[in-house]
Amino acid sequence: MLFKQQALLRQKLFVLGSLAIGSLLYLVARVGSLDRLQPICPIDGRFRPHGQDEIPLRALQFKRGLLHEFRKGNATKEQIRLHNLVQQLPKAIIIGVRKGGTRALLEMLNLHPAVVKASQEIHFFDNDENYAKGIEWYRKKMPFSYPHQITIEKSPAYFITEEVPERIYKMNSSIKLLIIVREPTTRAISDYTQVLEGKERKNKTYYKFEKLAIDPNTCEVNTKYKAVRTSIYTKHLERWLKYFPIEQFHIVDGDRLITEPLPELQLVEKFLNLPPRISQYNLYFNATRGFYCLRFNIVFNKCLAGSKGRIHPEVDSSVITKLRKFFHPFNQKFYQITGRTFNWP
Ligand code: A3P
Repeated sequence: MLFKQQALLRQKLFVLGSLAIGSLLYLVARVGSLDRLQPICPIDGRFRPHGQDEIPLRALQFKRGLLHEFRKGNATKEQIRLHNLVQQLPKAIIIGVRKGGTRALLEMLNLHPAVVKASQEIHFFDNDENYAKGIEWYRKKMPFSYPHQITIEKSPAYFITEEVPERIYKMNSSIKLLIIVREPTTRAISDYTQVLEGKERKNKTYYKFEKLAIDPNTCEVNTKYKAVRTSIYTKHLERWLKYFPIEQFHIVDGDRLITEPLPELQLVEKFLNLPPRISQYNLYFNATRGFYCLRFNIVFNKCLAGSKGRIHPEVDSSVITKLRKFFHPFNQKFYQITGRTFNWP
């Protein structure tokens, strides 16, 4: 009898416990999704949502789900019309720098409910063939978005390509430009590592970094080597400044984006006049990857592809010292122009 009563009591406790845990899990999930689904407050007239605050939470959640489908190109004409979706020219472009962390920056900004990314690099302004197809071709390459959202694309080749500043200026002279930079020598090695991997994939041999970065005749830094030239940030920026005032640029610290992404993203939100919506909840450190990964909501997380965060080959320390010495005066100039100082050696 006593045994039966004890069993009954245990059963009741089990049911009550399950209910409590269930409710707790529901609340956690709800808080997580609420954080993501808050309507966007208008800061700048250009980004003003059209009566978005009146959309009930469930409807908004449904719409975001739909948008995700549309991004994959699954929208019918009727759905596009019904949901008032548009393909908008970008309000901001990540113009570079290659290997600076451009993909991570784009993906992280895409966590913001008012931002929609163009998934592929479009290469409209740097590729003559694409550019000849005209601005409508470019617009059609943009993802579907709600009118209150902004579209962002990234094509790191823009930063170093001669014709691009003028072409972007002709499209929109008040566009916002994002440049993500890393310590120049590390960036150059990262650039080399990417090319090396490509060669290895094709079973081709390739020179060592040291051989490319240092001119064997003069023993000086080889400024003809593209990975070196790309890291002379100030030279490229000066070309851009012939078209755009410095206020239209925002410099992102790519080294900090790796170790501490949130403050960097908050600075970008501010620059884009977006209300702060990206939070620590959206970013979690994945020890296996060794990088921060993205959390959109309780069910949807993602890390960047394995091609981001490659192991760099070891480089002779004397070459590193030489490169750092070479970049030093250019870096000083870059700090002076941009008003942002980095602890680069
Ligand atoms: P490495 O491969 O040298 O480590 P890009 O997207 O412009 O090609 O830049 C690639 C770099 O982004 C990577 O360079 C990596 O260090 C950096 N990065 C920054 N944040 C990252 C993240 N959360 N996940 C993976 N890579 C990240």
